[in-house]
Amino acid sequence: MIYNSIIETIGNTPLVRLNKLNKGIAGEILVKVEYFNPGNSMKDRMAVKMVEDAEKAGILKPGGTIIEGTSGNTGMGLALAGIAKGYKCIFTMADKQSKEKIDILKAVGAEVIVCPTNVSPEDPRSYYAVARKLNEEIPNSFYPNQYDNLSNWKAHYETTGPEIWRDTDGEITHFAAGVGTGGSMSGTARYLKEQSETLVSVGIDTYGSVFKKYKETGEFDENEIYPYLTEGIGEDILPRNVDFSVIDHFIKVTDKDAAVMTRRLSREEGLFVGWSCGSAVHGALEYARENLKQGDRMVILLPDHGTRYLGKVYNDDWMRNHGFMENKTFGSAREIVNSRNAAYQLVVVRKSDKVKDAIALMNEKSVSQIPVMEDGQVVGSLTDNKLLLKIIENPEIKDGPVGEVMEDSMHFVALDSTLDVLSSMVDKEKAVLVRDDMHRVHIITKHDILAAITR
Ligand SMILES: Cc1ncc(COP(=O)(O)O)c(C=O)c1O
Repeated sequence: MIYNSIIETIGNTPLVRLNKLNKGIAGEILVKVEYFNPGNSMKDRMAVKMVEDAEKAGILKPGGTIIEGTSGNTGMGLALAGIAKGYKCIFTMADKQSKEKIDILKAVGAEVIVCPTNVSPEDPRSYYAVARKLNEEIPNSFYPNQYDNLSNWKAHYETTGPEIWRDTDGEITHFAAGVGTGGSMSGTARYLKEQSETLVSVGIDTYGSVFKKYKETGEFDENEIYPYLTEGIGEDILPRNVDFSVIDHFIKVTDKDAAVMTRRLSREEGLFVGWSCGSAVHGALEYARENLKQGDRMVILLPDHGTRYLGKVYNDDWMRNHGFMENKTFGSAREIVNSRNAAYQLVVVRKSDKVKDAIALMNEKSVSQIPVMEDGQVVGSLTDNKLLLKIIENPEIKDGPVGEVMEDSMHFVALDSTLDVLSSMVDKEKAVLVRDDMHRVHIITKHDILAAITR
């Protein structure tokens, strides 16, 4: 198949069965993996539809400029449409968005203006207001406004919904998706509900957003609004693309639960997806655990790709700094050290000790490796199997000094190194060393790590 331009490759993304994260859930869980779109997100679909509908309506004319406030993915879709159709693009973005998203838009030739996140949508500095102002000032410019432009939900009504219905042969009982502008959930759910009256839709919202309370009480509660980190879902406004009549339930998901689930999707299912995918799956599985029956089938929409979050949810330091690291079962070197009693004394030999005395000590203490110390410093190591080979080769070394046969020192690690980091450093031969708070040196072997993991 030959395509006339990249935008013709949008859509027909695959449905993939979850195999691990669905444990304990009756029924089947499928995900629709939207990063297969050329801009790596589902937003390609609505971006092209907004542009083409504007062309048809005569709002967007040849040589025009597309201006949009975007969390990045819509910008990518618009940029691809702009390239294919010859329009310039200017995007405004909130400064909480990933740096990767900004760089990606620049990479496809767009101009990007970064605006503050924590200001109200009416504030002239907000990314909504800056986009509107540029639209007023720049002649022959088009402001798609993905929040209120109904081509957004229609794109999903025309493509995402029918693809899911076709690929499941109509065997779908539940649909779940995050809600930001609302276009993907509203358009897809509307189509699916027109095919199946019993279809249940579950919208995923964030803490800090107004949707869930508005659906349940009809109240737009400003007290629900506070800054959160998850990108793409939840809002402090009610976009026209959110059709509350086709969204049956809302579930709120925390930034942390979403981040942890995003990493699990990559590691356990091989789905290297974006942060709001973690929100969608965490919330959808929470609903599914309680409500799905044998024979039910849920489809969860996964909006975008993991590359856009390498500096955030896929970065261990970032996760730790935000208190999001999911290593409940994985402690640190500190825990191993603390579990040893106060009388712990590292078994060591000196460079000048006789090799046969070192062997006797290792036997007596039942250790297979031992650091070599000199003037309070670790200067080398002995390991039993290497030593054995050397003695077989030359039995006389038994009577010589340790310094003549010792190997390199074991590596020192930081006291707060996590067990997953430690286990990647400890190899079959060599343990690692760590200084505790009292500057005593401890040795940590593979056995210590295994014992700590299973404690
Ligand atoms: C990463 C990501 N997830 C989810 C959404 C929400 O989708 P929608 O705007 O269709 O509600 C968006 C939209 O910006 C997004 O970029």
